[in-house]
Amino acid sequence: MRYPPNFLDEIRARLSVSSVVGRKVALKRAGREYKGLSPFKMEKTPSFTVNDQKGFYHCFATGEHGDIFGFVMKTDGLSFPEAVERLAEEAGVPMPKLSQRDEAREDERERLYRIVETSAAFFEAALMTGPGTEARRYLEKRGLSRETIAAFRLGYAPNSKSALRDHLAAAGFKVEEMIASGMLIGGDDIPVAYDRFRHRVTFPISDLRGRTIAFGARALDPSQPAKYLNSPDTPLFHKGQNLFNAHRARGPAHEKSRIVAVEGYMDVIALAEAGFAETVAPLGTALTEEQVKLLWRMADEPILCFDGDAAGRKAAFRAVETVLPLLKPGFSLRFAFLPGGLDPDDLVRQQGPQAFADELGKTRALFDVLWEREAQEQDLSTPEQRAAFEARLKGMVAKIGDAAVRTHYESELRETLWALNRTVVREIARGHGPRRSAGGSARRNNITPDWRLRERARLGPAAQAQAPRRGAASPELTAHAEFASPLEVLLMKTLLSHPWLIDEHAEEIAGLGFVSLPLGRLRDAILASQAVENSLDSARLRSQLSGTSLDKVVNLVERSITHRSDRFAEPEAPRAEVEAGWRHTLALHERQVGLQKSLEAAVQAYHRDGSEDALARICEIQGLLARASEPTVSAD
Ligand code: UTP
Ligand code: MN
Repeated sequence: MRYPPNFLDEIRARLSVSSVVGRKVALKRAGREYKGLSPFKMEKTPSFTVNDQKGFYHCFATGEHGDIFGFVMKTDGLSFPEAVERLAEEAGVPMPKLSQRDEAREDERERLYRIVETSAAFFEAALMTGPGTEARRYLEKRGLSRETIAAFRLGYAPNSKSALRDHLAAAGFKVEEMIASGMLIGGDDIPVAYDRFRHRVTFPISDLRGRTIAFGARALDPSQPAKYLNSPDTPLFHKGQNLFNAHRARGPAHEKSRIVAVEGYMDVIALAEAGFAETVAPLGTALTEEQVKLLWRMADEPILCFDGDAAGRKAAFRAVETVLPLLKPGFSLRFAFLPGGLDPDDLVRQQGPQAFADELGKTRALFDVLWEREAQEQDLSTPEQRAAFEARLKGMVAKIGDAAVRTHYESELRETLWALNRTVVREIARGHGPRRSAGGSARRNNITPDWRLRERARLGPAAQAQAPRRGAASPELTAHAEFASPLEVLLMKTLLSHPWLIDEHAEEIAGLGFVSLPLGRLRDAILASQAVENSLDSARLRSQLSGTSLDKVVNLVERSITHRSDRFAEPEAPRAEVEAGWRHTLALHERQVGLQKSLEAAVQAYHRDGSEDALARICEIQGLLARASEPTVSAD
């Protein structure tokens, strides 16, 4: 008994090998595969592997190899039809009833395959004849080698309404069949059916088994309105369910754990020539659900490659929409946006394979593209706009079907929104409210994913407030904290100039909570010196610190610019002034540390509930923090 081809595939699609095998063999995940003890042989170390993507098991101990049907046959001793029946039932796929009509339909399909295959051979041959000269020259001009042309079975559809029809008729096919195969255009209102593809370069499209099922065809005449023409949907070909080059790309994709989807036939071919055999393309339509699933059978995170221009971005956003409901743990998409309006074909021809490899090295995650999609269009300077933006993003995330993946997107979203708000808040705190910033575009540029990554990298666990307004803010001082507190710089400078303070305030100094790690270490070192030798003078203290890893920090503190109001930190300052200035700065610092703690609490609250209240609180504290480090006496 023969089964319709889709029938067995449907069962395979619904039952993973690991689930079928898993009932008999305890499997453990190992990378992209599963491992277990062979059911075919007594063994202590696992030599039995299952690969769901490839759809088979393999036993290295015995060489046994097969798919779900083979496994059930072997382990349950069933015949093939019995195995099919059992698994079809498990998968919930109804058994086909092969009536005489079905048998006839099967034969019909067989004939359609043969028509399409005969056409492919006809076009291939035509490319090598006289009428194919222009097409040959064209492909040569586009840089394709003879080997590539042969490997992809490129051909030429002659400039005639009947060349193919006559050829197929001579091979014994009926006109109705030729129409059904998509090779001829015919119908009730068309008196004589005629060849669909004329004066075009032909690109055969295959199913996963490598059988030719349709064609794409590129016009040689630039005045043709349709540059590319595809076969219509037929009993063999559904354009949304196939990918150009999938059957050739499958093997290389598994080897490299990578599959790249580009937009055009010529892109696929140029990339294959450039060494990227793991490349496919949809067939003139936006990526469909079925195509995404097909890509996931080849790699966990297929890379979709688009032009970096507006149209390319739009296409990428559409793909994001398609994939959200389908996401499942471990499977996603990544995005590559090529520069300068180049398609992959242009890129590898103009700049070489490495240029494309470089692009594949800097792909973007799905989340980032999703974010950008919403952020791109929007001005986000008012709370209302940001609230609407947030609502839209939440709406998108809600479309994720898988609960686990959705939860992770939700937290990623919360975190990223928080980072965005924080930037806005900081601008407000600095007196550069977004309303006053130069229009929406600067704002928009600020929230591209790249910005987001930078911003997040800067977010320490203790989110610090504003940029320093005085004191040193050199990279060395900020290396371990987000910002060196200017107040802490000032305190250390005062101590270095007036070590006698240490004798009087040692405990207080030891108890200071430092924001800046390097400055905290300097404080510790100063206290240690003082413990060894009482009543150090400034020069002695410095000589003790010199030669240690803190040299640099000491230098930076000393070179930091003090305001006029901070003269007490300079060595010449009279003792009474030093004492007063020190006390005052300590008080400010204490307040700052307190605010810092409140800020952290507010940030956590925002992380928890994401409320506007918490955001307002963050805003308020940041304003206070900004003022807390203003010069104490503003003018004199
Ligand atoms: P492009 O117009 O970007 O073409 O279409 P391309 O691949 O760069 O083609 P060349 O380099 O000019 O030969 C990309 C894909 O969109 C589909 C085809 O699948 C094509 O490969 N397409 C394009 C159509 O289906 N019809 C068209 O008229 C144009
Ligand atoms: Mn192109």
